Amino acid sequence: MTELIKKLMKTGSVSGREARISEVIRKEIEPYADEVYTDNLGNLYAHKKGNGKKLMLAAHMDEIGFFVTNIKESGLVEVAPVGGINYVSAAYSYVVFENGVRGVIVPEGGVSGNDLKNGEKYYIDIGASSRKQTEKKISIGDFAVCESSFTRLYGRRYAGRPFDDRIGCAVLVKCLENLKACENDVYFVFTVQEEVGCRGSLPASFNVRPDVAIAVDVTATGDVPGAKSMAVKLGGGAAIKIRDNSVICDFELVEELKSLAKEKNIKHQLEYLPFGGTDTGSMQRSARGAVAGAVSIPTRYVHSAVEMIDMADVDACVKLLGEYIKKPI
Ligand code: CO
Ligand code: ZN
Repeated sequence: MTELIKKLMKTGSVSGREARISEVIRKEIEPYADEVYTDNLGNLYAHKKGNGKKLMLAAHMDEIGFFVTNIKESGLVEVAPVGGINYVSAAYSYVVFENGVRGVIVPEGGVSGNDLKNGEKYYIDIGASSRKQTEKKISIGDFAVCESSFTRLYGRRYAGRPFDDRIGCAVLVKCLENLKACENDVYFVFTVQEEVGCRGSLPASFNVRPDVAIAVDVTATGDVPGAKSMAVKLGGGAAIKIRDNSVICDFELVEELKSLAKEKNIKHQLEYLPFGGTDTGSMQRSARGAVAGAVSIPTRYVHSAVEMIDMADVDACVKLLGEYIKKPI
């Protein structure tokens, strides 16, 4: 599993530019799916045919990043965020452009730290000393992401990026790989443009028209300095979402996931996320509407360069989803 996660994290793909990560995931799912296809927006589908109800599982392929808005006389690259960039946690991180050019992200306020806040001007310094030099490598509209990393820490805990949401993609790949023939008609969907407002999962739901839709994404934890009050903690097991700002999960689905986890002895916790949203919200409200919920992977420091996960939680998510998928809806 760690090899798969590592592989999926290595390919940077900002929202709207998911073609490269899509190719990587396609290779992983093709041996296990009955059919694999994409739609006009770039969502990637793996269909495992069944005669029962339609179940759609979604994890997003895109990640937050930056796009180039201007190039300064000094050679600095002015950037704007793609998705929920927190510049405080992004500042002084390594970034890499799609063409492989590397740089570091720096705030206009300088290294003193006092002026770091969202909405200020941020630049990527690629080490050039003039606009002319920079323009040889970078153009307006180019995209960059924080450099990928994957570092083992204490026990089975890893830091790096982008766990949001390659870890969800890895969980879906694993569930597909583990799935034997089942009654449910199951669609594993790797969605695009989640980070800019859950845009890909909307048409994907219209395509699939699921009876039940479950998003698999990271969730924040309450066990870090400065966290909003929430019960989810790293190592606490698969997080069964109850609600976030985009969705109130289906009550019966939540109850079913809870009792399934209890019955199968899978470590789990309940997630009430006081902010943010996931593909759950858009899937619930698309097409004819779906019974919707989410199984989340607890992640510390989401959207930073040092997101942190516990592999025991990841295993718990794979197990819980695996049990749910194979049970006739
Ligand atoms: Co995110
Ligand atoms: Zn996410």
